[in-house]
Amino acid sequence: MTLVQSATSVRPADPCCLVIFGATGDLTRRLLIPALYNLAAGGLLPDGFCLIGVGRTKLSSDALRNSLAKSLREFATRPVDDAIANQLLKSVTHLQGQAENPQTYEALRQELDRIERMRPTRGNRLFYLATPPAAFAPIGCHLGRSGLAREENGAWRRIIVEKPFGTDLVSARMLNQKLLSVLKEDQIYRIDHYLGKETVQNILVLRFANGLFEPIWNRDHIDHVQITVAETLAVGHRGRFYDATGALRDMVPNHLFQLLSLVAMEPPSRFCADAVRAEKAELLDATQAPSCLPPLRASVRAQYQAGYIQNDAIVDYRKTRDVNPDSSTETYVALKLVVDNWRWAGVPFYLRTGKALKSQLTEVAIKFKQAPFAMFRDTPVDRLAQNFLVLGIQPHECISLKFNAKVPGPSISIAGVGMTFRYEDYFDAAPSTGYETLIYDCMIGDAILFQRADGIEAGWRVVQPFIDAWAKAGARELATYKAGSEGPSEADDLLAADGRHWRPVA
Ligand code: BG6
Repeated sequence: MTLVQSATSVRPADPCCLVIFGATGDLTRRLLIPALYNLAAGGLLPDGFCLIGVGRTKLSSDALRNSLAKSLREFATRPVDDAIANQLLKSVTHLQGQAENPQTYEALRQELDRIERMRPTRGNRLFYLATPPAAFAPIGCHLGRSGLAREENGAWRRIIVEKPFGTDLVSARMLNQKLLSVLKEDQIYRIDHYLGKETVQNILVLRFANGLFEPIWNRDHIDHVQITVAETLAVGHRGRFYDATGALRDMVPNHLFQLLSLVAMEPPSRFCADAVRAEKAELLDATQAPSCLPPLRASVRAQYQAGYIQNDAIVDYRKTRDVNPDSSTETYVALKLVVDNWRWAGVPFYLRTGKALKSQLTEVAIKFKQAPFAMFRDTPVDRLAQNFLVLGIQPHECISLKFNAKVPGPSISIAGVGMTFRYEDYFDAAPSTGYETLIYDCMIGDAILFQRADGIEAGWRVVQPFIDAWAKAGARELATYKAGSEGPSEADDLLAADGRHWRPVA
């Protein structure tokens, strides 16, 4: 993430060749190509840029270009200028190869040598692993061992690894070990697309570029924090992946923990990758289920049943294609966590995420301690509204403060009101995929928005007790909720037990 006064001062990225493994896959078509187009349209792609797509499918370079051109038209986030699109697509070639086969890497070496002789890439290479997760370790290891990712003669070599990074603590550690046996940590860019969202990046700026929040950002003033990622999408065609993964693994150690760590971390000493990532990892290190509650009591997991979202009928999760009819995989999870450090001791963090819910909503809501009521006891006021600072990430990009105000009139009457800042009212950002910043940052070697090995492992360590407890419990205590609802009532009980309630999913 480059902190600049105005977008015009941003320089184009370093010259390089981008090698995408999985060039015909969904991620490349839907997000990477539109993101590269947006970078090109913003003048941020370097002159010497070229792209090699590597995939299993036998395909000519022309065929790949045509198929990417089609994807660009379908998924572009802004009107496509033919001249820019052609310039970008002209730089694309295709290489057929299997991730596990050493010959693929020999062929890739020859292709890179050829391209690097023709184009001014300065020998810089960015390898993007946009493949199924099982291929991350084999590709990373081949790139390392073959020397293709060796940094030499002033050229950088970097590798972007997609999520999910492991499926539990042990597998994440193993993947880190394998990659780190052939690459240096500063060559590995573990991506989490939540960090590509402007509103997520803004959490850092909101907290640390304003003198107003930091003094009250602690257990003396904050009652609790709610982090919600509610999706209306059902599992759809992703049954095979999802049934083996579930809501916890799919969303919590990555996306929700990014939000949690940005909201709760200590101020880093400097705005640089190592300082920021060290604080995020420290925060996750102090995060855990409350020691007084066993994991099954500090969590709710649930599965959706048939229902309607808007007017669309949603089938029962267990009847989804490629889902086991007896599946005990959760499509919803709610957790109560605590951060055991001086700033946050005693402040619960409630997290929830689910599929097939009533509305799409991603937000962080910080609830401040209630003002004492005593002063109003002999007045008509019977209650005070709660003070919430809400960071809206999706679909409304905003920051909003809820507070109490006097209703005009002769007697004292109080109403909860809101003051809202909407991004769209102040800034004129062109719609983007979220991957632009991430790809650009990787090309300039800024790792602030990427995860370090310790951060990834710290995240899995927090969720591992829940994974273990649920595996032991099987389908026992798996709750259900109707598709199109706000989630299971058991999630309400989790907060009600503490005298609190969730904000509406609306
Ligand atoms: C992905 C998950 O990482 O994030 C999906 O695998 C989920 O299941 C998606 O739908 C949510 O991302 P966003 O940006 O739409 O909130």
